[in-house]
Amino acid sequence: METTASSEKDVKDKEFKRDDSFSRPIDIGYERICDCKGSHINCMTAKEWVKSQIGVWEFFYEKRDIRDKEKHPAAYPISLSTKVIKLFTHEGELVVDPFVGSGTTLVSAQDLNRNAVGFDINKDYVELAKSRLSQTRLTDHSGKKTEQIVIEDDARNAYEYFDDEQISLTITSPPYSNLLNRKRKNKSRRGEDRKNDQYDKVEQYSQSENDLGVLGIEKFSKAMEEIYEKLLPKMKIKGHNVINVADMWWENTRIPIHIYVIEAMENAGYELRNTIIWDRTNIVNNVGIFGWPSNYITMGTTFEYILDFWRPPDE
Ligand SMILES: C[S@@+](CC[C@H](N)C(=O)[O-])C[C@H]1O[C@@H](n2cnc3c(N)ncnc32)[C@H](O)[C@@H]1O
Repeated sequence: METTASSEKDVKDKEFKRDDSFSRPIDIGYERICDCKGSHINCMTAKEWVKSQIGVWEFFYEKRDIRDKEKHPAAYPISLSTKVIKLFTHEGELVVDPFVGSGTTLVSAQDLNRNAVGFDINKDYVELAKSRLSQTRLTDHSGKKTEQIVIEDDARNAYEYFDDEQISLTITSPPYSNLLNRKRKNKSRRGEDRKNDQYDKVEQYSQSENDLGVLGIEKFSKAMEEIYEKLLPKMKIKGHNVINVADMWWENTRIPIHIYVIEAMENAGYELRNTIIWDRTNIVNNVGIFGWPSNYITMGTTFEYILDFWRPPDE
């Protein structure tokens, strides 16, 4: 099913200009710098590992998180990318976020002493991500050197920046197809609160034709497939690819975006390893989420998917 963008003229076009100041492949570390045993898949202790095996995750925002929708309409919490990076990488290894937005993944990578590269086509978000990374580091890494780099470029070009088998983990939250590409009606809010500053605004990233957020679901999933297919050889064997998405409603039809993403990733050569539910009830329940009796809002808005794939071992 193909959905179409509405209200396009309400959003200012942001010019996308590829930043050509980086070498390809980019000069960045990707090897472990920790003292863990070779066979360990991360730097966690056995106890931490066991605790992390629960399939429903809940996160809380901290002060450094971006909650202001004017700055970025859809940032995930630092604790989300932190958890994923801890699960699937060692210190020093390379993490990539093809849709880095406000740079949350890179903030986690900086905290955890992982090398990381993030891409976004929106210049304002690239600047925001850079400014977050330049703020004082919370942890002392005792002289260990890792870098976190933000590049203004289309995720479609991300593969050009890496050599084969360099990337240990990709983690991202892509635009959820064209979910944001329409006027916001605040249906989960009650009474006067509904007509807040966001009411009737389009909180889309941009209307650039390169932006995956302007694509209907079929074109969106094709673009995801192409991006990840080109990244496949750049992944270490058994390297993980974690994608956070939500399903959406479009004109009273449920669009199961997570199923399209799973298909796209399988077509691109990856294997699904885990489906994790991000339980967002603690974030949304103070705004009257169920909306009964008008029943605009369903339970489907209280959770999102965290899909975990890997580059399968060679036969
Ligand atoms: C859901 S947001 C990512 C938010 C991010 N996880 C954070 O915490 O800030 C998706 C991002 O993808 C970017 N984007 C859309 N199309 C893109 C493309 N073709 N290449 C790179 N970035 C793109 C948008 O500008 C937006 O910032």
